[in-house]
Amino acid sequence: MLMIPGPTAVPEAALLASAKHPIGHRTREFSEIMEEVIQNLKWLHQTENDVLMVTGSGTAAMEAAMINFLSSGDRILVGCNGKFGNRWAEVGKIFGLNVETITSPWGKPLDTETFYKKLHADTNKQIKAVIITHNETSTGVVNDLETINHSVKAQGQALIIVDAVTSLGAMNVPVDSWGLDVVVSASQKGYMVPPGLGFVAVSPKAWEAYKTAKLPKFYLDLDKYRQFTTQNTTPFTPPVNLIMALQASLRMMKREGLASVFARHQRLMDATRAGIKALNLNLFAEDECASPAITAVAPSNIDVERIRALMSKRFDIALAGGQNHLKGQILRIGHLGFVCDRDIITCIAALEAVLPELGWNNFTPGAGVAAVWATLK
Ligand SMILES: Cc1ncc(COP(=O)(O)O)c(C=O)c1O
Repeated sequence: MLMIPGPTAVPEAALLASAKHPIGHRTREFSEIMEEVIQNLKWLHQTENDVLMVTGSGTAAMEAAMINFLSSGDRILVGCNGKFGNRWAEVGKIFGLNVETITSPWGKPLDTETFYKKLHADTNKQIKAVIITHNETSTGVVNDLETINHSVKAQGQALIIVDAVTSLGAMNVPVDSWGLDVVVSASQKGYMVPPGLGFVAVSPKAWEAYKTAKLPKFYLDLDKYRQFTTQNTTPFTPPVNLIMALQASLRMMKREGLASVFARHQRLMDATRAGIKALNLNLFAEDECASPAITAVAPSNIDVERIRALMSKRFDIALAGGQNHLKGQILRIGHLGFVCDRDIITCIAALEAVLPELGWNNFTPGAGVAAVWATLK
């Protein structure tokens, strides 16, 4: 039972779709699938912009988002309050961009005021892009993208590039109404599809920037994807079976409805947090910035790795550990994608069962599940 923030559980309809024989990507049959998938991707992104698919994980989409719209030496602001914000800064530096990081401690949200000040002071419009990780997977913190984006829009020139890898499909990312220029995501998260597809949504303003962007690119040259997408196909051989799975999962999401998908994630987050609090374990992120996709838990006096090992051994439930300096400090519960009430009840009940074995008796037996249930009822 996967309760990690990706790869996430895959529904049967998507698994069965991916188990079909591969078909040629230059056939009418494949183009029909592509046509539907592209329309539904736009629906999910709440956009009329291009939404392009690349073969690769989220990091391929991140790289594509940088090299297609920026040139070496360009000044960019990157929000860094976790592993993935840091990765954006790292990629930018490798491509010779003039990267300025705006940092917050891991577990805290980015400071919107600092972005406002930097952008407000940039009267010569030297800042070419602002990059925000919407949902910082390494800590379970949501950054205030909407407020930071207001400051970007007031500056006028900079592109807003968004890592929505664990926010898309879990929470509202209204690409058009917020005017998000480049939005990156990946199949193994809210999409409920196995790993292997990256997505990049591109605004007309970003396509303008593409015309003067000078970084070298071939496989990840997004203009190629744009051209082939208009013909309902792809420039290179795509993972056709993953796209068949995506067709099935997007249909499921459409049936559920966007508002319901977001409400479900919110509800599962509330239930998870209530359960953790009732077990007297510390939540790593404050309620105000808590993620609907991932809950990070920072237990004191218990070895996190032993909790994870026991959860796996006793109940076959996979929880994620901490990353980088948070290794051994936190565990992360993914409640992203194909997740329902039953999964949260199960996960918290299993935690209740293993904690006393590790010496943690600081809760009333049954309190965790009772708190989860009180939230879900
Ligand atoms: C917020 C965020 N950005 C980027 C990535 C990188 O994606 P991938 O591991 O698919 O390359 C991840 C992966 O977990 C992520 O959570």
